[in-house]
Formats: sequence, structure tokens, C-alpha cells
Amino acid sequence: MLHVDKKWKDLGFIDEALPEDIDLASEIRRMAKEKNAVIMAHYYTDGGVQDVADFIGDSLALAQKAAQTDADIIVMCGVHFMGETNKILCPEKKVLVPDLNASCSLAESCDATAFKEFVEAHPDHTVISYVNTTAATKALTDIVVTSGNARKIVDQLPKDEKIIFGPDQNLGGYINSITGREMLLWHGACHVHERFSTEKIIAMKGEHPGAKVLVHPECRGAVVKLADKVGSTAALLQYSKESDATEFIVATESGILHEMQKACPDKTFLPAPPEVSEQTDKEGRPVTCACNECNFMKLITLRKLYNCLKYEWPTVEVDAEVARLAIRPINRMLEMSK
Ligand code: 13P
Ligand code: SF4
Repeated sequence: MLHVDKKWKDLGFIDEALPEDIDLASEIRRMAKEKNAVIMAHYYTDGGVQDVADFIGDSLALAQKAAQTDADIIVMCGVHFMGETNKILCPEKKVLVPDLNASCSLAESCDATAFKEFVEAHPDHTVISYVNTTAATKALTDIVVTSGNARKIVDQLPKDEKIIFGPDQNLGGYINSITGREMLLWHGACHVHERFSTEKIIAMKGEHPGAKVLVHPECRGAVVKLADKVGSTAALLQYSKESDATEFIVATESGILHEMQKACPDKTFLPAPPEVSEQTDKEGRPVTCACNECNFMKLITLRKLYNCLKYEWPTVEVDAEVARLAIRPINRMLEMSK
């Protein structure tokens, strides 16, 4: 393995300049083959990153794939908790995430120390955590779920079972509404999914009356109510492939549009608009932002991926005791979602 400069170690990624004529995608593929590495990417990453991956998927599929891979190295093009999940499932493998700063606002909204107090205050409750959590929070959990299997898993528990659901209050509220449960919710949320505007989606629907509205359950309840289909990224993609409709308004992170457009080149996918940001800069001008982009996912670039494979760094490490506790709820999820 090559030596990694301290400058990069301090930053948590390697973004070394490369020769201008380099064919990044083929060099990444060549190194992956040479090193027996599997490149996995979430649908929210940049289109170029998705195109170079061996496997793209939603959070559930990525965890399932990691549990089965015989590669020596897993390169997780996604956010840090996804790398942690892979490392917990495959402790003997080298797990790389091209930028360690790729966090997740939902995972951050659930500090493990505060969550522990919440759990201890409700000792008779089963603890269900969304996969968008740190390993430390998973270690306090009985069953992990993703947006793709949350309903299926909750439905397998006895009707009178008392449940804590964290950290996403929107996903938890949605599962409560479709199952008739009264799970106790932790009040966390994703900064991207919270921002979709009901007014703007309704206006868009007026302009595109035949369009189907696709909504991720991390969105607020008022947005979910506008949906023709609510589901995980993989479920929304599947729906868009199978539907007879030719236009879709997509209320989730805009990276998914890349795969939707590739799978259905003759259909039109319109990103649902977010609320206008109320932030202003130092001069008081409104801050324009692509609010339906996850800034964490977009930290993963082809150049960082190339350098990460070349140097086999940065690696994802999980404390052994945390991993010992966190593997149980993850395995329970994999078992219950079969
Ligand atoms: P899914 O991949 O389960 O749809 O989740 C979306 C997400 O926010 C991942 O961080
Ligand atoms: Fe986390 Fe939201 Fe980004 Fe998904 S879109 S990784 S939930 S911050």
C-alpha cells in the first residue's frame, strides 16, 4: 500500500490532482479488478460514480450485497454509516469510503448518548432504528430497518409490542399511519427530504396532470399525502419502470434521476422542488442552493474514488465492542427481510 500524506489524513480524503489525459473510469475499473475490490454505490451519488460501480442499490440492497461479497476490499460510495454497516458485516475485509466527511444529517440527529437515555427511560420497549444511524446508535438497538423493509419488519412484531422508532420521525410517522401502530418516535429528520414543498409539487402537478408523484418516506407527512407511490429509492425506481405513465415528479434526492433516466430513456423525470431557502449570505442576499441534493453524498467524486482505491485509504473502522453489539440488530434485519 502507498504512503498517505498527513495532509490528506487530516482532511479525511485524498483528492490528489491527476494527469489530465487519464481515463478515470477505466483506471478505477482496472484497479478494482487487480485488487479484487467491489465498488458499491448508493443511488444518491453522482451519476459518474454510479456508472463505474459494480453494484448500485438502496440501503437495504447495499447491506445485503456486503453480507454476501467475496471481494477483499469493499469500496462504499455513499455515506459513512453505510461504510460502518459494511465493516460490521465484514470485519475481516478492508472497507473504504472515499471521503470520511460524508456524514448524514439523520444519523447526526441521533446522538448515541441521548438515545441511550431515551431507551433506558422506556425499558419495556423494543428498539427499532433506521439504518441511517451511527454504529454506536445501532449498538443500542434491537432491530435495524431500512425504508425498504420497515413495514415488513414492524408487521412481524406482535400487535401489542411497545416500540421505540428512531431517528426519522417522518418514516416512523408514516409506518405508524399504515400499520395502525403507535410507535414512540425519536424526533430526527433528513435535511434534504424535509425541504420538499407541497405547494410547489401541487403547482407542478397542475402543469403535468398525467405525472405520477414519487415520494420517499423520509419526506414530511404532507408531502407523502401527495404521492402516487411511497417507497425506498429502489421501490420508486421499480415503480417508474413498471408504470404506464410517462412523466414522474420525484420527491427524493436528485441522484436517483440518473438511474431512472437510464432505465427509462423515453420517460420524463422532474425533480420535485424544495422550499426556497431562507438563508442569506453576509450581504443579506438569498443563498441559492440545490436543496434536493445531499451534500454528503455529493462529496464522493470519481477523483476521490480513484485515489481511495489507489492508496486503499480512507478505511472505515468500528470499535470492536460496538461492532459486537451492532451486528445483532443488523443480522436480525437481514433475517426478517427475507
Ligand atoms: P434508501 O436507500 O433506503 O431509499 O434510503 C435513502 C437514504 O436516505 C439513504 O441515505
Ligand atoms: Fe442522510 Fe438525508 Fe443524505 Fe440520505 S439524503 S444520506 S438521509 S442526509
